[in-house]
Amino acid sequence: MKIGNIILEGKTIMAPLAGITNLPFRLIVKEEGCSLVCSEMISSNGLVHKSARTERMLESDLTEKPLSVQIFGNDPSIMSEAAVIIENSGADIIDINFGCSVRKIVKTGSGAALMKDNKKTEALLLSIRKSIQIPLTIKIRTGWDNSGYQALDISNIAEACGVDAITVHPRTAVQGFSGKADWNIIKAVKNHVSIPVIGNGDINEPADALKMIGETGCDAVMIGRAAISNPTIFSDINALLDGRPVPEPDLARRFDLMVRYLEDSVKYLGEELACKMMRSRLGWFVKGLPGCSHFREAIKQITDEETAKKLIYDYKKKIF
Ligand SMILES: Cc1cc2nc3c(=O)[nH]c(=O)nc-3n(C[C@H](O)[C@H](O)[C@H](O)COP(=O)(O)O)c2cc1C
Repeated sequence: MKIGNIILEGKTIMAPLAGITNLPFRLIVKEEGCSLVCSEMISSNGLVHKSARTERMLESDLTEKPLSVQIFGNDPSIMSEAAVIIENSGADIIDINFGCSVRKIVKTGSGAALMKDNKKTEALLLSIRKSIQIPLTIKIRTGWDNSGYQALDISNIAEACGVDAITVHPRTAVQGFSGKADWNIIKAVKNHVSIPVIGNGDINEPADALKMIGETGCDAVMIGRAAISNPTIFSDINALLDGRPVPEPDLARRFDLMVRYLEDSVKYLGEELACKMMRSRLGWFVKGLPGCSHFREAIKQITDEETAKKLIYDYKKKIF
């Protein structure tokens, strides 16, 4: 699988997830065999206006490469300027968000609102393409609403503008995350363009990835929500793609990942912010384990790394 000149070692990609796919989280999924990690969506305005908080979102580590950085916005010149900043930061791929359906984003004409505006889309993509050398990708939905398959029009425009790959999350913006992802749209886009197509939406367990590839012909799969509580889904999918069985769940490994996630978060974000984040995030990793609600309650109070580690180790002892 190649995106422009970037070779991916496998077919599994971590979805951009705002508030989640920061550097410490990406390092974990990378270690679990994810072939391409993506940043959270980053404001093109924030980058161009040098917001310190936005600039920190570009922080990266060589071990996570290749890295795709996603931006949102709707002004061709600002988006292009932001793309150059990202290219200079060392990112390998720039992805443009055509899928976010959150009100505060679409009301500015960004995210999924772009799927209603072919002219703006073309101007934006042409301008960004001219400004950067690294591969350019877009992440789209089926369209704005059920009035038509805007995904096909946008894909045409994207290919003509020199976009190197398209990710399709086949729900409309109006749908948000409700209903079921319609994988037929992924297949339709795949049959419509000659650049790589990445399928996304409702891969909940490893076997779903093979099913999506089989049903749609997509070149790679992108996983979002399922990876939040189970980062090992990437190594499980890789096993299936290699013709091996999915390994037995390795609980000890899950606890190791929690500790590493905590340590990396403290390293990159500082102890105070890391502990605030870990109060909810560590709870995701224990989904379905006996006594998880008790652990979740306890972890909500953490203010320092040492206490958090002790809670993890104590819970591990109870499980084993
Ligand atoms: C908490 C959350 C944050 C998200 N943030 C982004 C984002 O920043 N950029 C984006 O393109 N999509 C974002 N998405 C959408 C996901 O990337 C993905 O398209 C969607 O969750 C469907 O895939 P899944 O069924 O594997 O979760 C987000 C989804 C969730 C649940």
